Amino acid sequence: MLKKIIACSVVTLFVFIGSASCFAADAGPADITMVGEKSAKPKPAQFPHKMHQDKFTCGDCHHGMADGKQVPYVDGQEIQKCETCHNAEVLPGKMAGKLKLDTIKGAGHANCLECHKKSAAENPELAAKKIDKCAACHPKK
Ligand code: HEC
Ligand code: HEC
Ligand code: HEC
Ligand code: HEC
Repeated sequence: MLKKIIACSVVTLFVFIGSASCFAADAGPADITMVGEKSAKPKPAQFPHKMHQDKFTCGDCHHGMADGKQVPYVDGQEIQKCETCHNAEVLPGKMAGKLKLDTIKGAGHANCLECHKKSAAENPELAAKKIDKCAACHPKK
């Protein structure tokens, strides 16, 4: 990343206008409130997007679709809301283990909750922060 920034700055210095390839894709909002099908129950999930971007890669969460199948994230691709595909019309009956992928809840839990459980199991500090518990994402108040 640092190398890329330096390389880009050098290019920008010499060319004076930054080449488009030096700018990362639209990063989206820093904080997102994710509203599901029944958003009132429980409280909508809170998602510190920027904080996750600093720790993980875009492709850990974003992907595309071709012929009804998931395709891996590629740099600069269009990023759509999960619900664009994770709904009963586009992905009827699709499951990830016991989680229904044709709902926002299922896509959210298969992505967010599974990683939080895995991270807490691997790292006692994260377990102490209770990131694997409901209230981590669905704050009570
Ligand atoms: C790592 C984050 C995370 C954790 C932890 C988590 N959820 Fe969720 N949950 C989500 C996301 C994202 C959604 C989809 C957006 C929304 O509905 O708020 C969701 C949706 C839901 C929904 C559906 C609400 C709706 O609008 O359709 C229910 C019910 C739910 N979660 C219950 C739970 C329970 C119970 C727990 C604890 C066992 C839990 N969640 C833990 C992220 C999480
Ligand atoms: C830990 C998971 C995660 C990571 C990592 C992540 N994102 Fe996201 N991103 C999301 C979720 C979840 C949303 C909200 C989608 C929704 O509202 O349905 C989102 C929303 C967005 C949006 C707004 C989409 C829209 O139409 O509202 C953009 C743009 C975006 N992300 C870009 C990126 C880029 C670029 C990266 C890498 C630098 C990245 N994201 C990394 C999970 C992630
Ligand atoms: C362009 C359509 C599309 C969008 C947008 C999309 N998905 Fe998916 N997703 C798919 C398809 C297709 C599959 C594969 C379903 C199958 O065949 O089992 C999938 C599978 C998944 C899976 C299970 C497989 C895996 O990778 O673990 C998760 C979790 C998931 N999506 C989460 C998300 C989240 C979270 C978002 C929003 C940040 C999102 N998806 C946005 C199309 C999409
Ligand atoms: C690839 C793994 C991964 C995914 C996917 C992921 N998270 Fe996280 N998330 C983490 C880790 C690890 C932390 C703890 C960071 C720390 O405190 O050092 C965290 C922290 C958080 C926190 C702050 C919790 C607290 O009490 O400090 C919230 C809220 C959160 N995540 C919500 C979400 C939601 C909602 C999603 C899905 C849209 C999501 N996360 C997807 C790994 C992930």
